[in-house]
Amino acid sequence: MASIDQHSGSYRAEMDEAEQASRDEIVALQTRRLAWSLAHAYNNVAHYRKAFDKAGVHPGDFKQLADLANFPFTVKTDLRDNYPFNMFAVPREKLVRVHASSGTTGKPIVVGYTQSDIETWATVMARSIRAAGGRSGMIVHNAYGYGLFTGGLGVHYGAEKLGCTVVPVSGGMTERQVQLINDFRPDVITVTPSYMLAILDEFKRRGLDPRQSSLKIGIFGAEPWTNAMRAEIEQSFAMDATDIYGLSEVIGPGVAQECIESKDGLHIWEDHFYPEVIDPESGRVLPDGEKGELVFTSLTKEAFPIIRYRTRDLTRLFPGTARPGMRRMEKVTGRSDDMIILRGVNVFPTQIEEILLANDWCGGHFVIELTRQGRLDEMTVIAEARYGHWDGSGLVEHADRVTQYIKNTIGISARVKAVAPETLERSLGKAKRVIDKRPKE
Ligand code: DLL
Repeated sequence: MASIDQHSGSYRAEMDEAEQASRDEIVALQTRRLAWSLAHAYNNVAHYRKAFDKAGVHPGDFKQLADLANFPFTVKTDLRDNYPFNMFAVPREKLVRVHASSGTTGKPIVVGYTQSDIETWATVMARSIRAAGGRSGMIVHNAYGYGLFTGGLGVHYGAEKLGCTVVPVSGGMTERQVQLINDFRPDVITVTPSYMLAILDEFKRRGLDPRQSSLKIGIFGAEPWTNAMRAEIEQSFAMDATDIYGLSEVIGPGVAQECIESKDGLHIWEDHFYPEVIDPESGRVLPDGEKGELVFTSLTKEAFPIIRYRTRDLTRLFPGTARPGMRRMEKVTGRSDDMIILRGVNVFPTQIEEILLANDWCGGHFVIELTRQGRLDEMTVIAEARYGHWDGSGLVEHADRVTQYIKNTIGISARVKAVAPETLERSLGKAKRVIDKRPKE
């Protein structure tokens, strides 16, 4: 894999102006752009005008980045309450596209883009693909879902802008995915990490060696995944796998991207998105390096400016490395919504993923079932065995060893059940890791 020292010279030659900017230059740019974004939101969106007035702040009060802390947060319910079009800062006729986030319950969240927003999005997405090692002329197999979800079209426009040949396969029809990879010989694949495992299984089912495939670069995101999963995918396919982060409310994919030369967390494209990390309880802004809830403010978006949006994603901020002017965020290993509290102990599905992948017999397909016995919650981890490792016996000893390991490291008693390959349902996009069978109170 590439080392930063070996390649930094050649990588730098490809970077755009913002990627090469110093921290001071980025801060100056952010200060100017934030002043614009706050005024734009206040002057054109009734919700922001009301919220700022209620908090007793005015865009004119903003003089430096620290002043942003005086402005109110925006939360998911604010967006839902303004369904479908009331958060837009431009007349509807100026929108060239809308997307919507699925949302498990209730109304979806609708986001919109002007032509200039689409251009911004393509720019940050092209930059992300390039940071992951993609180059003009490469073929990109895009298996993120096309439609209201931002993944498919977001990656698509960025890849085109970079000068790649895009194969817009979308998610699903796994056999065809493998066929197209074999026939078109793409260099890059863009897909959720959990669906990449389904593609890997299909390679094996057909007796194809994934290491011999044309894929050299994988850009994986839209759901939490671990470095253990990275190792699994990189070794299986002989590729470089990097993490891409984004959310519809902020723009879609391309808010932050891991650089291939460092693979040390995701550089946030801070010329367009301003990050803060807060204490989720008190709302206080935390210093860089401390873990909390990630909050974003858009700096340049016209149609859907977003001010201090609480993502519910948990991470921390670090100084930039491969792009020294832009800060990095630590891999998001969970959302506050995904956290399971089992008898008082907090558990994220990614902690289970990491433990399972440390075992040879398990290839990374798993779900967590929550049930209730009397008044006690119980957790069962159902993990699929790899092809060569399943003997029909249930692998009881192996499973018990994982139970013991979970007990010793996380401190909870979870039952681990190994099942045959291809037992669990495959998701075509974001994996659903937790099945909550507890009675609703
Ligand atoms: O998932 C946008 C996207 C598409 C990102 C393709 C990357 C690749 P939403 O559907 O609005 O947008 O979901 C956003 O997904 O708040 C996180 O909880 C989660 N998420 C996205 N990327 C990552 C990641 C897209 N790399 C929500 N690691 C976010 C962990 C991620 N979680």
